[in-house]
Amino acid sequence: MTDDVSRNERIKEASDYLRGTLADGLREEITGAIIEDDAQLVKFHGMYLQDDRDLRPERTRKKMEKAFAFMIRVRIPGGVLTPRQWLALDGVARVYGNGTMRLTTRQTVQLHGVIKSNLKATLKTIDAVLLSSIAACGDINRNVMCNVLPEQSRAHTAAIELARSISDHLLPRTPAYREIWLDGERIAGGEEEVVEPIYGKTYLPRKFKVVVAVPPSNDVDVFAHDLGYIAIADASGDIVGWNVTVGGGMGMTHGEKDTYPRTADIMGFCTNSDAVKIAEAVVTVQRDWGDRKNRKHARLKYTIEDRGLDTFRAEVERRAGVKFAMPEPFAFTSTGDRYGWSEGIDGRGHLTLFVQNGRVHDVAGAAQQAALRAIAHVHEGEFRITPNQNLVIANVPTIQQAEIERIARDAGLLAPWSGLRRNSVACVALPTCGLALAESERYLPDLLTALDERLAAYGLSADDIVIRMTGCPNGCARPYLAEIGLVGKGPGRYNLYLGAAFNGSRMNKLYAEDLDHAGIIASLDPLFAAYASERQKGERFGDFTVRAGFVAATGNGADFHANAGSQQQGATR
Ligand code: HEM
Ligand code: SF4
Repeated sequence: MTDDVSRNERIKEASDYLRGTLADGLREEITGAIIEDDAQLVKFHGMYLQDDRDLRPERTRKKMEKAFAFMIRVRIPGGVLTPRQWLALDGVARVYGNGTMRLTTRQTVQLHGVIKSNLKATLKTIDAVLLSSIAACGDINRNVMCNVLPEQSRAHTAAIELARSISDHLLPRTPAYREIWLDGERIAGGEEEVVEPIYGKTYLPRKFKVVVAVPPSNDVDVFAHDLGYIAIADASGDIVGWNVTVGGGMGMTHGEKDTYPRTADIMGFCTNSDAVKIAEAVVTVQRDWGDRKNRKHARLKYTIEDRGLDTFRAEVERRAGVKFAMPEPFAFTSTGDRYGWSEGIDGRGHLTLFVQNGRVHDVAGAAQQAALRAIAHVHEGEFRITPNQNLVIANVPTIQQAEIERIARDAGLLAPWSGLRRNSVACVALPTCGLALAESERYLPDLLTALDERLAAYGLSADDIVIRMTGCPNGCARPYLAEIGLVGKGPGRYNLYLGAAFNGSRMNKLYAEDLDHAGIIASLDPLFAAYASERQKGERFGDFTVRAGFVAATGNGADFHANAGSQQQGATR
């Protein structure tokens, strides 16, 4: 390995397939942390070393170590859990974690606040219900997402099957996870190439994210991910194949114009039998072509920008031994969830619940965690986590529907929220995320209350408007694909982005910088007023802000930064 690769590349190479010194570090009792190199490796095992940022000032004053604890992210392809698995996660959250569960924008569950000495017990409990956290974070293929209601047609069934096949196929083969966390014996290894046939010793240059979408729903936000599959079905609902997308990604860094969020390109159409082969080829091309010197330029989106889609496609075709056909037509209508009951093709019901920002907890007047536990005790179908941090109680027979609905209603999981709140997503941010520059999950609900008042004044309370907030520009809540995107800049300050398409096909554009609470409301209020009086029939808020000249429409790649901030430069209208 050459000298000029990034530090993480050296850590991976020296890690002996993700072992590092994690096993020793766990036994070390003088600190609640682990050494820096292992903190990079533990991500591949689905964990982040964090500290409670609310407690930092006090602990620094008292010369105490930071309040270290781990975030554990579970691997849940398509977000589908059995009630027993739900109960196990709820149990470990309460016994070993901070008491709450966090449903994420990539259909997994995160547990926060697990201290080092409880990690093994937590992972063993998860293992006992056939779940794991392997490869939930790190430079590797992570949780594979899938459209949330697979039972609605045969296309949906094929979609979850594909999501699971890709997830299994791209799992790391190293036994390190079992050895370290589940007390597995170390098996004397064979040849290195056999250990990780797809990834090799240094895995991928950066994280890698795969999703499977079933039109007309784009709930998975297919264009935000490295690799995507869009289901193409025939008139009877059977899958004929997939449009394959590559090169989406959200993260960027404030002030660095050569970093940008990007929507994926459609590479072509493939048959179902070629889909997994193509996933492997895309992964290995990115493994070999991705930038291993600069982590800020290491995602597949930059490989595609630098090499061009045609060159990339040709190499994927060569490695997979397949030829893409021209993409098939498809149409997405929205990225949101369909709340309330919907019926599957077999007559069973699916109830979509609203979980504010995905935080499952019990608060005064709304014991939602207890309610979901009660549902898990009677429910025999599944719990499905949506990409909007909500939850579907799926496959409920008619006879149980009234009882489950009553439990959910009593806990405020079915409340009649405004069109803005129904379409809101916030990342975790403070106090756990070490990268947060501003609040997100703890602030968005209050901001929504203030914005709801303004919307009500213009008769817009029921209109679906997508709003997403993150505490930093990394983009965990996909804010650049929201009609209203708010991205943390510093404590109490946000950049405001506008003009994304409602169906997730076009990103937004920077409209105003460094706004505080009053500034956000003052910026949005006149836009709401104009939307109420000037919108065309059926026109979405994001499309309106572009047509009315508040922001320019965003193209792809570096164009994200072009013509930004029309408010500062004087509105173009
Ligand atoms: C350089 C880019 C990124 C970094 C360094 C990063 C890092 C992190 C960290 C540290 C957390 C843990 C926060 C906590 O639970 O306390 C987190 C959460 C999360 N991230 Fe990222 N992230 C990045 C970009 C993204 C993107 C682009 C997505 C998805 C499109 C994403 C998806 C998530 C999800 C689903 C969570 C869980 C919580 C939630 O739903 O908000 N991340 N990320
Ligand atoms: S967007 Fe930033 S602040 Fe929010 S969870 Fe991701 S890394 Fe943390």
